[in-house]
Amino acid sequence: MTTSGGGDFPASLLLVGAGRMGSALLQGWLKLGLEPARVHVLDPAPSPEVQAFCAARGVKLSAPAMPPEVLVLAIKPQTLAGAAPALAALTAPTTLVISIVAGKTLKTLAEHLPSAGAFVRAMPNLPAAIGAGITGAVADPAVTPAQRQKAQALLAAVGRVEWLGEEDLIDAVTAVSGSGPAYVFYLAECLAEAGVAQGLPPTVAEQLARATIEGAGALLAALPEATAAKLRADVTSPGGTTEAALAELTGGDALRELIGRAVAAARRRAQQLSG
Ligand SMILES: NC(=O)c1ccc[n+]([C@@H]2O[C@H](COP(=O)([O-])OP(=O)(O)OC[C@H]3O[C@@H](n4cnc5c(N)ncnc54)[C@H](OP(=O)(O)O)[C@@H]3O)[C@@H](O)[C@H]2O)c1
Repeated sequence: MTTSGGGDFPASLLLVGAGRMGSALLQGWLKLGLEPARVHVLDPAPSPEVQAFCAARGVKLSAPAMPPEVLVLAIKPQTLAGAAPALAALTAPTTLVISIVAGKTLKTLAEHLPSAGAFVRAMPNLPAAIGAGITGAVADPAVTPAQRQKAQALLAAVGRVEWLGEEDLIDAVTAVSGSGPAYVFYLAECLAEAGVAQGLPPTVAEQLARATIEGAGALLAALPEATAAKLRADVTSPGGTTEAALAELTGGDALRELIGRAVAAARRRAQQLSG
């Protein structure tokens, strides 16, 4: 499912937390046509950039007088308990809460905001900051099809959205795409270091590694019907240089097993941190 634009946006929206992720969402919504007059933003100390953006676009930096149709929760997990009583007073049974707060379960959210009617728990990732994120989301049974469509439109403003059938899978999403950008950054580091070991000047090696990852990612995006395995096979000539490198990476399935262990470790940690 992809975003269907301004038509699916809620009539009233409260964003709680205008930090990195909250401001990326806000910018994405307005870019896609959400009317600024429908939005309130709550943040105890909004940055000068957020203040300037809200002033320029006519977004109110204050609590709404009426419970919003949708409340998007984008605060840090450790601040939820302290913020909840004030937020609970701003919600009603007609309010859908969309939380991107890491590790906070649907049950915990409902305990903190008992007056809200329905909850969506979502896990975006860092590239959301440039509109290129991917979010895993799960809805509680009280979420209506219309509310789900609104959640889809709001989350899709910063990238793609994958809906999950079970809440437990959010920890696996965290392990793959939530933490995933760091794995790719590490690959860029390793590739650059390997280039230096082969005699390249460090700045050249870094540019080569960086541009290679950017380009490979852009190709994956440009050819959505081709699997990563096919793209790899297409550039691997028998007896060639790529094959020589891949024999080292895949020998005994070394890299596959290592990534499997890394993702499993991230999922275990996400399970330990959630509550
Ligand atoms: N960044 C990511 O890549 C990413 C990815 C997935 C999920 N998430 C989740 O998204 C959430 C936000 O992350 P972030 O990186 O955007 O954090 P952040 O930059 O620290 O933003 C959180 C914002 O919420 C504000 N805040 C604190 N208490 C508040 C309250 N009672 N009412 C309203 N606003 C309040 C903070 O203000 P102060 O700074 O003044 O405290 C800050 O501006 C976290 O739960 C995180 O786990 C983030």
